Amino acid sequence: MAERNAPSIGLISQKSLFYLFSITTVLFILSWFFVLRSTGHNHFINHSLIPNSKVFARIDKRNSKPHIQSEDEPLVLNNPMNVGKEVQASKDNALVKDNSNKVALKVFMYDLPPEFHFELLDWKANGGSVWPDIRTKIPQYPGGLNLQHSIEYWLTLDLLSSEYADPASAHTAIRVHNSSEADVIFVPFFSSLSLNRFSRLKPHEKKSKNTLLQEKLVKFLTAQEEWKRSGGCDHIILAHHPNSMLDARTKLWPAMFILADFGRYPPNIANVEKDVIAPYKHVIRTFVNDLSDFDSRPTLLYFQGAIYRKDGGFARQELFYLLKDEKEVHFSFGTVQRDGIRKATSGMHSSKFCLNIAGDTPSSNRLFDAIASHCVPVIISDDIELPYEDVLDYSEFCIFVRTSDALKEKFLINLIRSIGKDEWTRMWVRLKEVETFFEFQYPSKEGDAVQMIWQAVARKVPAMRMKLHKSRRLSRSHAPKEKGLRSAPLPRNFGE
Ligand SMILES: *[C@@H]1O[C@H](CO)[C@@H](O)[C@H](O)[C@H]1NC(C)=O
Repeated sequence: MAERNAPSIGLISQKSLFYLFSITTVLFILSWFFVLRSTGHNHFINHSLIPNSKVFARIDKRNSKPHIQSEDEPLVLNNPMNVGKEVQASKDNALVKDNSNKVALKVFMYDLPPEFHFELLDWKANGGSVWPDIRTKIPQYPGGLNLQHSIEYWLTLDLLSSEYADPASAHTAIRVHNSSEADVIFVPFFSSLSLNRFSRLKPHEKKSKNTLLQEKLVKFLTAQEEWKRSGGCDHIILAHHPNSMLDARTKLWPAMFILADFGRYPPNIANVEKDVIAPYKHVIRTFVNDLSDFDSRPTLLYFQGAIYRKDGGFARQELFYLLKDEKEVHFSFGTVQRDGIRKATSGMHSSKFCLNIAGDTPSSNRLFDAIASHCVPVIISDDIELPYEDVLDYSEFCIFVRTSDALKEKFLINLIRSIGKDEWTRMWVRLKEVETFFEFQYPSKEGDAVQMIWQAVARKVPAMRMKLHKSRRLSRSHAPKEKGLRSAPLPRNFGE
């Protein structure tokens, strides 16, 4: 045995000598590198050992440089993305709380004559002023159902006030007076109010004031340098009421529309890629100090609205017949007016679930009334588009049911009854967290509907820029048209 072991011991010690030598060598080489590095000969190291260090070095440099905005590095493009991430990352209510180093969306607003905006509210311009001095008095928006589509009013006020705001207050959008420096161009036409108040023909009128204003607007816009520069694609046009801008939209479609839904729009004129969906302003009172719970809300399922509707609204009638004999289900008819608002408020505040069924158009104010009432929305509207859905997961606080399923015998009521106290309470808590995103107010506050809409606009800016830049590729080399070269090709069907 010993004889056999002797050579193997020798072998082992030989092996360990070899290992020892290798380790020392490695250590020596390593130390040599460190010496080289500390004396500044790091070229060699960069290239041979750490191939990516150059890339890192470059990133380091960029990050340590004070961030100065330049043409090819627009800050606004970074900012809205971060906001989106913030929203996804934090599930709490403080979705958009860090504004300390946020860079605002720069908005140029046309000084349209007052007949397009505040004069529609019976405000009278004195002297040559275009805008009311909001530091002294804010013109009031008419109440009632007009308010549903009042986003035009809140966004415009917010822009006006951005000039007087103290820098600490968080404005997502700030007004700039040089359009070359703006991210987007805002068109302050109160189109929903114009529709609501001036679409009826007066005696001896051939065209309504609403139609005339739209014609004037198209003429004005297409004559502007700003419009010609971009073909309109960086313009923001408000058309929240589904019937507003019916005439002008076929001429102004390259612009970004702010809409309630796409129900009345062909996809080539408006679509999710290009346009922004904004909430209705709810008409039901917000449920402040909501101490209710699953058991204290006696009504299981609540619906308020007209049941007989044209177009997509057939489901309402069908559902009425399916649900009318179910216990704890409340169907009430008619639009929400005066006394109706009070009744609907108490109805929604004392219901667990609130039905939203497609009417004439896929969206309706009812969803936002339900959110303000912390009544879990049950949405039966296959084509509905929802505000800020790129950063907000509605399945956390809404129940969605396909129309074809909802119309099956017992399907809907069984589904609703299967949702227990725990699940409902989770959604109710979430509703209370997200409700501020749907709140319109002046002055606007962080994370309210006004700021959320501006952020949604800002998230569209990168795609809009890309389209604009691509359209300029051939602007130098393509053959001149009869009217001479243009910086951006104008869309077909363009009214001039
Ligand atoms: C507007 O901004 C552009 C780009 O920054 C600049 O070249 C131009 O001089 C500005 N115009 C005025 C009137 O300040």
